[in-house]
Amino acid sequence: MYNIVYTSNAGHTMEYANLLALELGGEAYSLKEAKKKLKKKSEVIYLTWIFAGRPKKLKKALKRYKCLAVATVGMTLNKIDQDEIKYKYKLNCPLYYLPGGMDVKKLKGIYKSIAQSVYDKMLIKAKNEKDFSDDEKIVAQAIINGTNYVSREHLEPILRYFNNIKK
Ligand SMILES: Cc1cc2nc3c(=O)[nH]c(=O)nc-3n(C[C@H](O)[C@H](O)[C@H](O)COP(=O)(O)O)c2cc1C
Repeated sequence: MYNIVYTSNAGHTMEYANLLALELGGEAYSLKEAKKKLKKKSEVIYLTWIFAGRPKKLKKALKRYKCLAVATVGMTLNKIDQDEIKYKYKLNCPLYYLPGGMDVKKLKGIYKSIAQSVYDKMLIKAKNEKDFSDDEKIVAQAIINGTNYVSREHLEPILRYFNNIKK
């Protein structure tokens, strides 16, 4: 039985947390729910989304729980380099990357307007959508049309790791 704790805004990370709980056996709690349900220093797997290059509330999760593994969820399909995160947060557990997506309609709070302003700023800089760089095109597409890469297959490396521990 594993406790999966997550921080999610538009729901992609929550989806992964629920899938992981189903696959590994266990419960998925938002960080807020976990505060009521889990004791301090409980063993957890922490999943969180990336905001401006930073994993949300990772410091808080590491302080409160014993993280057996951490997974970050971002907007790109390709795995991103996470050495800086490992170093910055002094992680001594495995760190995974999961492709999430972008759904501006589902974003809550300030994040919706931040996402919209990212697009506006790119447009002001480039003057025309046709002049976006390749990276900017990916971001613009994600903001305008939305993307969703959530899939069980991306959990395979995490499942392999925990299933090997069980053996
Ligand atoms: C304001 C904002 C900033 C973001 N910054 C990044 C980023 O720096 N790197 C990245 O890979 N994804 C970034 N994303 C994309 C999110 O990490 C992605 O949409 C993720 O799936 C969100 O998870 P959630 O649906 O659980 O909230 C950003 C999204 C928003 C809304």
